[in-house]
Formats: sequence, structure tokens, C-alpha cells
Amino acid sequence: MSHLIKIAPSILAADFAHLAKEIQATEAAGADYIHVDVMDGHFVPNITVGPPVVRCLRRVTDLPLDVHLMISNPMQHAPAFADAGADILTVHVEGNPHLNRVLQSIRDLGVRPAITLNPATPASAISEVLKDIEMVLIMTVNPGFGGQFFIENTLPKITQVRAMLDSAGNEADIEVDGGIDPQTAGRVAAAGANVLVAGTSIFQAPEGIEAAIKAIREAAQRGQAQGLPGLK
Ligand code: DX5
Ligand code: ZN
Repeated sequence: MSHLIKIAPSILAADFAHLAKEIQATEAAGADYIHVDVMDGHFVPNITVGPPVVRCLRRVTDLPLDVHLMISNPMQHAPAFADAGADILTVHVEGNPHLNRVLQSIRDLGVRPAITLNPATPASAISEVLKDIEMVLIMTVNPGFGGQFFIENTLPKITQVRAMLDSAGNEADIEVDGGIDPQTAGRVAAAGANVLVAGTSIFQAPEGIEAAIKAIREAAQRGQAQGLPGLK
């Protein structure tokens, strides 16, 4: 079964002084989710936004808020993000010894639980929680900053995770994040990803937000239709 391609603009590359306007432009351009990068200066070397910003975003868009927690103690903060209006909460497996507990506590908050893997973390790290997740985010850069280069050797992991989810009978989405543009979009979708996060290539696109989203979506749809040689 092929999963619907969805585009999730990452507001990290937007103009923070005009967030409502930027988000409404992506919404008008057909974005599927709004991706919010939460960084604590500890799990990753950068600091961004917290629940008050999510709460304000909730008031200006009806799109699902896809909140990527790059923080050391996600369980401590999950309730505040749920209360602020997050629809998806994604936690990292790295440094998170009680995955089942974290995922269940997110579900109990009425939010969709998702899990993410850094580029150097193997797919096997999620083998015991395959039935507990609604999305897997495969980082295609090391988290912390926008505008980095796509890491090529994350591609086989996408295919591996898709196969693991399929054999667990879970139709969860696979999201990718980092260095996604119309060039890399086709390749990640061919490998099995269907939710594409993009910051720089959408908000900084010289051709504008609408054309950028369209180009990424179309490239991903072509890649998905094509698949990988030998995988059909
Ligand atoms: C990286 C963040 C990404 C980032 C992607 O730590 O998780 O969501 O904003 O930015 P681009 O698309 O510019 O690589
Ligand atoms: Zn992100």
C-alpha cells in the first residue's frame, strides 16, 4: 500500500517576526502539517521555541501541529505541549531509556506518538516499540540546525524501517527531516518516506512558498511511484 505524500514545512526557516503570515502562506499553498522544532540547548546545541509558541500557532492554523522534541526530558514537557495544542509529539530514541512509558504517556494525553532516529542510530533501536507509534521520523541530518546537507547513507534505513513497520502490521507514516528539497524528495520517497519536512527549501525558496511545496510534492510522488529498483 502506498502512503499519501504529505509536506510539513519546518518553521525554523520562517521569519519568526511574521510567523502567522508565513504559516498561513504554507497552508494556502497546500501544506499538510506544520513542523515545529523544539530544541533545548542540551539534547541539541541550539535553543528554539516552547509551549507558548505552539499555543499561539494553534490559534492561527487548522493544520496539524507536528512537534519535534529535541529535548533531554520529553516526558517532563509533553503535557505542556499537548495542552498547547500539539497534534503529533515526536521523541528521540537517543538518551531515552523508557520508550514505552514515554509513548504511552503521549497517547494518554490524546496526542499521536511518534519516534525519531538520529542519522547514526540504527533502525533496530525501535524494534521493540513498532506497535506503539503512529509515525517514525528518520533524521536525514544531525538535529540542531536548519540548512544542513542531506546525509546520503540514511536512505537504506528508510527502506529498512518501512519493512519493519509492514511486518509488524503498522501502517504508520515515515517522515524525513533535514536537507529535503525537490532533488532529495524523490529519493527519500522512493526509499519509503511519505511525510517530508522542509525548512530552507520552502521558506527561503526564490520561487516562493507555493512553487516550492508543489515541486517537493511532485518529486516525492514521482519517486514513490517509481520506487527502488529491485524492491517491487
Ligand atoms: C533540524 C530540524 C529540522 C530543520 C530542517 O534539527 O529538525 O526540522 O528545520 O531544516 P532544513 O529543511 O533547512 O534542512
Ligand atoms: Zn525537525
